[in-house]
Amino acid sequence: MQSLGKFGVALTFVLVLFLLASNVESKKKRRRVEIRINRETNHTKILKSLKNQQLVIENKLQLTSTSEDTSSVGIESLINSYNTEFYGDIQIGCQSFKILFDTASANLWVPSSQCKEPVCFQHNQYNSSKCSSYIANGTSFQIQYATRVTEDVILKGFLSTDTLEIAGLTIKDQTFAEIVTLPESVFNRSHFDGILGLGLEQIAIGGVTPPFNNMIAQGLVDQPIISLSLTRNASDPSNGGKLLLGGSDPTLYSGCLTYVPLSVVGYWQITVGSFSLGCNKVICSKFEAIIDAGTSLIVVPSCALKKINKILGIKSSDKRDGVYTINCNKVSSLPDITINIGRKDFTLKPSDYILNYSGTCVSGFTSLAQGTQDINIGSEDNCCSPWVLGDVFLSTFYIQLDYEYKRIAIGSRVTNYSTSSCS
Ligand SMILES: *[C@@H]1O[C@H](CO)[C@@H](O)[C@H](O)[C@H]1NC(C)=O
Ligand SMILES: *[C@@H]1O[C@H](CO)[C@@H](O)[C@H](O)[C@H]1NC(C)=O
Ligand SMILES: *[C@@H]1O[C@H](CO)[C@@H](O)[C@H](O)[C@H]1NC(C)=O
Ligand SMILES: *[C@@H]1O[C@H](CO)[C@@H](O)[C@H](O)[C@H]1NC(C)=O
Ligand SMILES: *[C@@H]1O[C@H](CO)[C@@H](O)[C@H](O)[C@H]1NC(C)=O
Ligand SMILES: *[C@@H]1O[C@H](CO)[C@@H](O)[C@H](O)[C@H]1NC(C)=O
Ligand SMILES: *[C@@H]1O[C@H](CO)[C@@H](O)[C@H](O)[C@H]1NC(C)=O
Repeated sequence: MQSLGKFGVALTFVLVLFLLASNVESKKKRRRVEIRINRETNHTKILKSLKNQQLVIENKLQLTSTSEDTSSVGIESLINSYNTEFYGDIQIGCQSFKILFDTASANLWVPSSQCKEPVCFQHNQYNSSKCSSYIANGTSFQIQYATRVTEDVILKGFLSTDTLEIAGLTIKDQTFAEIVTLPESVFNRSHFDGILGLGLEQIAIGGVTPPFNNMIAQGLVDQPIISLSLTRNASDPSNGGKLLLGGSDPTLYSGCLTYVPLSVVGYWQITVGSFSLGCNKVICSKFEAIIDAGTSLIVVPSCALKKINKILGIKSSDKRDGVYTINCNKVSSLPDITINIGRKDFTLKPSDYILNYSGTCVSGFTSLAQGTQDINIGSEDNCCSPWVLGDVFLSTFYIQLDYEYKRIAIGSRVTNYSTSSCS
C-alpha cells in the first residue's frame, strides 16, 4: 500500500519516544501521550487534518460531563492520533500548547521562542515577554529520550516559571523548560508541541516540582490520583478517552480495581506476576514493567519478542519501520494474552493487541533492540528485563495512578459509561 510508508513513519515516530526501561539514569526520559484538557464543559476537539486521511486515524475528542460536577477533578479529553499518541491542550501563561501526556517522565517542556531552528517554527513557541505572569529562572535544562533513531535525542533549554492551566485547573508558579535545541528528526512530525510528565517527582530533572505535585500542593484536586481511560477505536472518533486529574470515575470501569504497589518509586513501575500467550505458554514470570502512556506499543526485551513472534507466526521479514505486520485474516485465530498482575489475570484479546490501520494489521509488540536486528537475533537479552506497557496495554484497561500510596490500580474499562458495582 502506498500509504504504508507514511503510516510506518508515524509509528516509528511514536516508538522513538519510548522510555528506555532499563535506564534508570535520571537524565533519560520518555513521553507519549497527548491530551486536551477541559473541565466540566462540552468540547469537541478535532485533530487538525493530516495529509493521509485514510491511514491516519483521526479521533475527535468529545468531552462528556461526568455525573458529579465537583470542581476538583480536572477532566482532560484525549485525542487519539494513529491510535498511538494521545494528546491535549494546556495553557502556559497566556499561550496555548498541544501537549503529550507522558507517565514515564516528570517534567514539562515546550519549545521556546528563543529557539531559532526551523523545527521549532512548526510548533507553538513560548515567548516569555508576552505574558505578565512569567517569572524568570534561567537554570539550564537538558532531557534525553531513548529512541530508535541512531543519533541521541537530546533537548536543551532553560527553566522558566509561569502559570499552567490544565483542564480548567490553574497551577500557580509552575516551573517548566523552554527548549531551544529540539532534535528535528523526532519533532519535525510531532503533532504536539511539548510534553508534560506525569511521573513521580523522584524522576523529575533539575529538582523541578512536577505539575501534578503542584496541583496537589495547591489544593486544586480532590485526591492525589490520576485516572486513565484510553480508547482505541478507529471507527469511533468521538471517543479518544479521558485523563482524569485528581480523581477516579467508577462509571469508567466495571468490577473491582486491583491494586498493586510500585516496586520502584519513580516510574510507575510494578512487578508483573506472569505473562502468557495462549495455553500456558508463559513468556515470563515475576518481571518488572513500567506503565507508560507515552509509549504506543508494548516494548519487550528482544528475547521475549522472539518467543511472542514465534507464537503469533510473525517472521523477521514482517518487520517494517520497527514494527511487525501480520496478516489481518490471521488475527481471529491468534491466542489471548493473559497478564497476571496483583494475583489477578487480565486478558488481552487479539483485537486488543493487534492494531488495524485500514486493513494493515500490526502487532502491538516490539523491542528496543539496537539497529536493524530482527526476531532471530538478540540472545543478549534477559526476557524478563523491564517491559514497557504502553498504550496497547493501557487502552484495554482502566488505570489509576495513586501518588499518595505509590500504587497503581487496574480494572476492566467500560466504554458505555454504564454504572457498575464492585461485588
Ligand atoms: C453538551 O453538548 C450536547 C450535545 O451537543 C448539548 O445537547 C448539551 O446542551 C451541551 N451541554 C452543555 C452544558 O453545554
Ligand atoms: C516575543 O513577544 C514580544 C512581545 O509580543 C515580541 O516583541 C517579540 O518579537 C517576540 N519574540 C519572538 C522571538 O518571537
Ligand atoms: C522537517 O520539515 C521541513 C519542512 O517540512 C523539511 O524541509 C525538512 O526536510 C524536514 N526535516 C526532516 C529531518 O525530516
Ligand atoms: C529555578 O528552578 C529550580 C527548580 O524549581 C529551583 O530549584 C531554583 O531555585 C530556581 N532558580 C531560580 C534562580 O529561581
Ligand atoms: C468502535 O466504535 C464503533 C462505532 O461507535 C462501535 O460500533 C464498535 O463497537 C466499537 N468497537 C469496539 C471494539 O469498541
Ligand atoms: C481491519 O480493517 C479492515 C478495514 O478497515 C477491515 O475490513 C478488517 O475486517 C479489519 N480486520 C481485523 C482483523 O480487525
Ligand atoms: C454497558 O457495559 C456493561 C458492563 O460491561 C454491560 O453489562 C452493559 O450491558 C452495557 N450496556 C450497553 C447498553 O451496552
